[in-house]
Amino acid sequence: MIRADYQPTAGSLEGRVVLVTGATGAIGEQVCRQAAAAGATVVLLDKEIKTLETLYDRIVGDHQPEPAIYPMNLEGATFDHFPEVAQRVREGLGRLDGLVHCAARVGQVAPLELYDMEAWYRTLQVNLNAAFMLTQACLPLLRQSDQASIIFTTDVSGRSGKPYGGAYTVANAALEGLMRVLAQETADNTSVRINTLDPGIVASSLRAEEYPWENPLELTQPQQVVGAYLRLLGPEGRGYHGQQLTVEPAPR
Ligand SMILES: NC(=O)c1ccc[n+]([C@@H]2O[C@H](COP(=O)([O-])OP(=O)(O)OC[C@H]3O[C@@H](n4cnc5c(N)ncnc54)[C@H](OP(=O)(O)O)[C@@H]3O)[C@@H](O)[C@H]2O)c1
Repeated sequence: MIRADYQPTAGSLEGRVVLVTGATGAIGEQVCRQAAAAGATVVLLDKEIKTLETLYDRIVGDHQPEPAIYPMNLEGATFDHFPEVAQRVREGLGRLDGLVHCAARVGQVAPLELYDMEAWYRTLQVNLNAAFMLTQACLPLLRQSDQASIIFTTDVSGRSGKPYGGAYTVANAALEGLMRVLAQETADNTSVRINTLDPGIVASSLRAEEYPWENPLELTQPQQVVGAYLRLLGPEGRGYHGQQLTVEPAPR
């Protein structure tokens, strides 16, 4: 468990650069805004330019460090595109201190026996392959930071299994494995901290797609879980490496 009742002090991420995928999603947006409020320059990566621009305007309007926008559809991205992301961050911002994976699609809710192969490939591409390729591409830059943090957002279904969760659940299980292997490989030769974070049930488009009958106002709100991300990104996250963490939401 990691508590989300954490409010970083203003400036605690000053001078730091944090790249967030799924930046305009429910959880991603909160991570971007709070990281910017703590002084970080945030690289906003998502697939819709309009929503990226809206988030950009909001962060600039709040008088926070000017973010960078990186429109990218992870579904169509090939392995050539990911080193380009890292290269552009290096050239434009000179460093990278945090990589937060929040991009995901639900895929198909169906038994594996009947699972549609196209949905399988598309979901694993966004939720797993893109996360791996981006992490691999960014590692050299993250290694240069004295305090880098990689957060893979995962879902409890990846730890426990879930019938009909399909490629979404399998991708989450694989992200847990990816984190563990990478955390072991980097433990002795880098200061990069790598963890998975399960936010629990949070109101979002992704949640609504799978559970349309739920009232989102009755669910945990993204603002209640974001503190856990900020904790892991900042100096307080130093003690965490190679852990499968679950968020204990802050009270409303
Ligand atoms: N909400 C929950 O209850 C819950 C529970 C456990 C884990 N999680 C995890 O939390 C993370 C954030 O999800 P969320 O709940 O905040 O959902 P969300 O609001 O739907 O955010 C997901 C984001 O990923 C983006 N995305 C989807 N496909 C993409 C692609 N091909 N290329 C680039 N970006 C893409 C979405 O963009 P568009 O909006 O443009 O499609 C959206 O901005 C995910 O990893 C999810 O698995 C959520």
